[in-house]
Amino acid sequence: MTFDSTTLFSRHFQLQTMMGPNCLRILDELLTRIDLPANARVLDLGCGMGLTSMALAKGYGCTVTAADLWIPAEDNARRFAEAGLSGRVTAVHCEARALPFEPESFDIVVSIDAWHYFAADSAFLTTHLLPLLRPGGLLAVGVPGLRRAFDAVPDDLRPYWVDGMNFFTLQWWREMWLQCTGLTLREAFDMGCHKQAWAEWLESDNEHAKTDMVMMDMEGGRYFATHGLICEKQNW
Ligand SMILES: C[S@@+](CC[C@H](N)C(=O)[O-])C[C@H]1O[C@@H](n2cnc3c(N)ncnc32)[C@H](O)[C@@H]1O
Repeated sequence: MTFDSTTLFSRHFQLQTMMGPNCLRILDELLTRIDLPANARVLDLGCGMGLTSMALAKGYGCTVTAADLWIPAEDNARRFAEAGLSGRVTAVHCEARALPFEPESFDIVVSIDAWHYFAADSAFLTTHLLPLLRPGGLLAVGVPGLRRAFDAVPDDLRPYWVDGMNFFTLQWWREMWLQCTGLTLREAFDMGCHKQAWAEWLESDNEHAKTDMVMMDMEGGRYFATHGLICEKQNW
């Protein structure tokens, strides 16, 4: 489905609620590759301030569970109420490795700019996530990563590099997901919106955006990419 979620919210609101490269661009690109069922039940995992959760409800007609660790559920619930979306989006405060949901609760799990914090092993998928999807359900992930692998962190990147941040190549993610039983990897691709999503984030007043601006200036498109991964839970 092709849709521009940035038309749903004012520019000011987007800049206030983004927590990284514009998540609405990443969401829209992922969803062009997916046939959403009517009134899909979606888990937005690592939803941050819930911008994508609101877009999924308001623009895509989904019923959304907006789950996050750093942002209090009360804050997100207030934002959803102010947007008139309380009935369509539920805010939940939780840790990705202790998700408080019943088996097969969701048609789709979406996760944008959060996956690298908690999901860089196949056990996460098989143990924590797949049980929550209905058979045939989808997982759609947009995750920051590397354009190419390196043995050692390049000197110019070193000042910005945080060890343990799980920045990997697309090939790395592809191979890891191919190891998961119960899962069919449908697509793994570098996202076309990468540059635009970053440029929009760097317009934000957020203090992290200011640091990121220096880093992105330095890397000049040499190191970073946004990877898209879509997989399906097998029916057996
Ligand atoms: C960079 S923010 C992105 C938020 C949002 N998806 C967006 O793109 O604006 C990463 C999010 O991942 C969430 N996160 C990190 N580790 C997590 C964990 N272990 N369990 C649940 N959420 C986690 C944080 O709470 C944070 O809001």
